[in-house]
Amino acid sequence: MKAPSDTYLQEWKKKLDPLSLTDSLRFLALQFPDRVTFSTSFSLEDQLITHAILQNQIGIKLFTLDTGRLFAETYSVWSSTHEKYQTKIKAYYPDQDALEKWIEAEGPNSFYTSVENRKACCHIRKVMPLKRALAGQDVWVTGLRAEHSAARKDLSRLEWDPANEILKFHPLLHWTTDAIRNAIDENHIPYNPLHDKGFVSIGCAPCTRAIRPGEDFRAGRWWWEDNTKKECGLHESAHSQQKINS
Ligand code: ADX
Ligand code: SF4
Repeated sequence: MKAPSDTYLQEWKKKLDPLSLTDSLRFLALQFPDRVTFSTSFSLEDQLITHAILQNQIGIKLFTLDTGRLFAETYSVWSSTHEKYQTKIKAYYPDQDALEKWIEAEGPNSFYTSVENRKACCHIRKVMPLKRALAGQDVWVTGLRAEHSAARKDLSRLEWDPANEILKFHPLLHWTTDAIRNAIDENHIPYNPLHDKGFVSIGCAPCTRAIRPGEDFRAGRWWWEDNTKKECGLHESAHSQQKINS
């Protein structure tokens, strides 16, 4: 897709703003038939979006990036989601050659040795497969939330992602954790049990820990790194994206 003008983005944002979670997803699916895709990491917010799409049979594809290093609990919630909604979520995997060469050269846990190595691992296991998942799509729906980090507070619900040349929509950007938890409970949506054990933002097992009371939501991601802007490359372009002020 070509980069839209500011006016175009503003118009779409005005149309989407008053709509509920379900209505906004339905609206996008109708405007971009077969060209809207949702990435799920099976987090609380992602499970709520999954429910909205599948319960209402909205024409949005679902995919996940299976890094091969996810928690056992994440695979369990993936499996329960298949059972509950009688559906299949497409999984994208790292390129076999790239991964084999990388592991042979650096070993299985080189992400602990430098930020450069960590980013290289995320690139092979997440960013490259993401490119394949987004190919040919016009809209990428995510579960990004403002509460998760200072960098994400400045995002707009609808943005242009120049790195992937796609519109990005974050329907739950301004929802609170409590509101999401309530919706999960009310609708009996399966969720990752790690959320009940102090895990807030959940990624790969070797790179995620529970957080302590008062810590930032993303303190448990790549906790051994001391930089404040901890991103894996999936949403890095968010910081330089064209934004629409809410
Ligand atoms: S990350 O960039 O730090 O890994 P985060 O875990 O906060 O992202 O998740 C934000 C959103 O990115 C999720 O709601 C989901 O849309 C997408 N996402 C993150 N990890 C994955 C994954 N492994 N597979 C698919 N989507 C993902
Ligand atoms: Fe590799 Fe850790 Fe990134 Fe997962 S989060 S892709 S294991 S560096």
